[in-house]
Amino acid sequence: MKLLICGGAGYIGSHMVKRLLEKNIEPVVADNLATGHRQAVPENVSLYQGDIRDGAFLDKIFRENKINGVIHFAADSLVGESMKAPLKYFGNNVGGMQSLLEAMVRADVDKLIFSSTAAVYGEPENIPIEEGDRKNPVNPYGESKLMMERMMRWVCLAHGLRYVALRYFNAAGAADDGTIGEDHPVETHLIPLILQTALGQRDHITIFGDDYPTQDGTCIRDYIHVTDLADAHLLAMKYLIDGRESAAFNLGNGTGFSVREVIEAAERVTGKPLKVELGQRRQGDPAQLVASGKNARRVLGWQPEYTSVEAIITTAWRWHSIHPDGYEK
Ligand code: UFG
Repeated sequence: MKLLICGGAGYIGSHMVKRLLEKNIEPVVADNLATGHRQAVPENVSLYQGDIRDGAFLDKIFRENKINGVIHFAADSLVGESMKAPLKYFGNNVGGMQSLLEAMVRADVDKLIFSSTAAVYGEPENIPIEEGDRKNPVNPYGESKLMMERMMRWVCLAHGLRYVALRYFNAAGAADDGTIGEDHPVETHLIPLILQTALGQRDHITIFGDDYPTQDGTCIRDYIHVTDLADAHLLAMKYLIDGRESAAFNLGNGTGFSVREVIEAAERVTGKPLKVELGQRRQGDPAQLVASGKNARRVLGWQPEYTSVEAIITTAWRWHSIHPDGYEK
């Protein structure tokens, strides 16, 4: 089996590629390397460098490879940036999906696994969040991903393409062997920022608000390990190969950790006390996001391996300790 991995040089995409190789499934990577890293993709994997908004680029990949299905990670994914540059998000994310779906229909490739997000829900109605709950994105990033889900739905009805949308909660951690991990041009995520503080690269970690209606006043998130996410994609592809219907699943552990709890866990893992400062709330942050992951478990048979935030941070710490400056630039 050969799968096209759009965004396979990025953080989650590269862990997907690694997992596929471990399972003897051949990945073909398409990545424009805007935020991805060439070094995150093993040399023996075909890497097509280009933009998925370029239909001719996708046609070439489909012409040169017998692709059985697509896993789509290629998108901009920063909530804060999306508030300032919404059109970048609609152009790249929604435009990328338009072009990918067109090329898949042309090439008669009919299975698509899509990286969606908890941000499609906005401020949740209920905790834990179920797939059928109200979707009311509060930022252009979440809006773009919801639009992409809806595009797939209509294409499914018109052209028979089937898809699974996987709504990730907070992706974290790194490959167990420390070979690949998280390296963003501008880091905004909590766990890497904490670990950069532990490495002495940052003076302190700022907590964005401690006046939320939660136990300790800081935001609660559901952290899920990146290789557990990769496994869910494989199970989702198997689900489509088995002829099942298009669907959407939440991917989370179902347990929330507050920002303070994550900082304390990182102090235990790294053995370093961290300087913590209290800052303002960050615009667009819901107080609490916790998944009900029961459908992914029941329908896909997904069983996350990393269920404690310590275990997740331990793998991230290994990556950051071995590669304090990320991938070689
Ligand atoms: N936080 C801090 N200080 C920091 C960075 C983050 O207190 O320096 C807090 C945030 O306010 C938030 C929590 O840590 O409460 C986690 O923040 P991240 O930036 O790590 O992650 P988000 O929850 O904002 O974002 C994640 C994904 C997005 C997705 C979103 C859903 O990265 O892709 O969940 O809302 F859209």
